[in-house]
This record gives sequence, C-alpha cells and structure tokens, in this order.
Amino acid sequence: MTPESEIEEDSPMNVPLIGVGRLEPLPYVKTILVTGVAGFIGSWMTRHLIYQYHNNYNIICLDKMGNVSSINNILELIQFSSFRFIHGFITNPKTVSFALEAYQVDCVMHFAASGHVQNSFEDPFTFTENNVMGTHVLLDAIKNNSNISLDILFSFSTPWLP
Ligand SMILES: NC(=O)c1ccc[n+]([C@@H]2O[C@H](COP(=O)([O-])OP(=O)(O)OC[C@H]3O[C@@H](n4cnc5c(N)ncnc54)[C@H](O)[C@@H]3O)[C@@H](O)[C@H]2O)c1
Repeated sequence: MTPESEIEEDSPMNVPLIGVGRLEPLPYVKTILVTGVAGFIGSWMTRHLIYQYHNNYNIICLDKMGNVSSINNILELIQFSSFRFIHGFITNPKTVSFALEAYQVDCVMHFAASGHVQNSFEDPFTFTENNVMGTHVLLDAIKNNSNISLDILFSFSTPWLP
C-alpha cells in the first residue's frame, strides 16, 4: 500500500469513498439511523449520506464494533455535525430505544448483521442472535416508538442453513 505521505494531493486516492449519485432529499425525513455503520455496506451508505446530504439529514449510527468492523471506515465523518456515533448492540432494547427516541429518528437503514456464510456454520448462535434477535429488537423498538413514522430499508444476502 502507498504510504499516505506519498499520495499526491489531487490523486483519486484522496477522494472520499462515496457514491456520486444524488437524488432529491426526502422532505419528510430529518434523521436517519444507520445500523452496522462500521461494516462494509453501512459505512459506504453512511459516507454517501453524509457527504451528499449533510445539510438535509442527521445521521445517527450504531455499531457494536465487532471483529469485522473498522473505525477507519467512518473516522473521516466525525468532522460533520450531522454525524453521531453510538457504540452499542442492536440486540439491546435500551440502546436501540435510546437511539430512536433521543435523536427523534424517522428513517432506519438496517445493515448490522453477522455475515460471511462460512462463519455461520461454525458459530450459528451468534448469527441467530445478531440477525434474527437484533432485527426483532429493532422492529420492536420502532413499533413502540409512537412519536415517529418510519421508513425501513432492510438488506439481506446471507442465508443461514442448519
Ligand atoms: N457485503 C455484501 O456484498 C452484501 C450484499 C448485499 C447485502 N448485504 C447485507 O448487508 C448487511 C451488511 O453486510 P456487510 O457486508 O456490510 O457486513 P459487515 O460484516 O461488513 O458489517 C456488519 C456490521 O454490523 C455490525 N454488527 C453486527 N452485529 C451487530 C449487533 N448485534 N449490534 C450492532 N452492530 C452489529 C458489525 O460490527 C459490523 O460492523 C448484511 O445483512 C448483509 O447480508 C451485504
């Protein structure tokens, strides 16, 4: 890898890793909760949201920081006042309810999950806990939060077969 000091200022490697597309922001959405923000999909989505929509949306991020997460995926976002990070588990109802209520979340993008099919054969309980229970806790917290109407985006690619 090229050391940072050797990267030219105008090098494409200095461009933040974001998507370039930009749809019109949704007028009824103010605050988005993104789960699994320090993982692959969640960090890409969050960087995109922050860079393209920091004047439109507040982005509240939740991640347990597991062994596949990297703080480097989101470190550059700390400079934005529209970015907030909560270190916590989606399996913890108090944490999820706090995130939804304290920040008056009105949209959720749920990417926190255990991925990688091979690992699910070796440690299936962790997959059930994070993917099934975690999603259940999140949905329950949303249901119990009567102050907000929510849009929910779910992303699945990893099956678990006993
Ligand atoms: N990677 C892909 O190509 C791809 C494609 C389509 C869909 N998806 C789906 O998107 C979702 C995210 O995939 P990914 O590749 O970004 O995974 P990833 O493993 O890179 O990231 C998942 C993140 O979720 C966090 N997390 C896991 N359990 C948690 C918990 N209980 N509480 C809080 N945070 C928790 C982890 O710490 C991690 O940072 C998964 O549902 C996956 O199936 C992934």
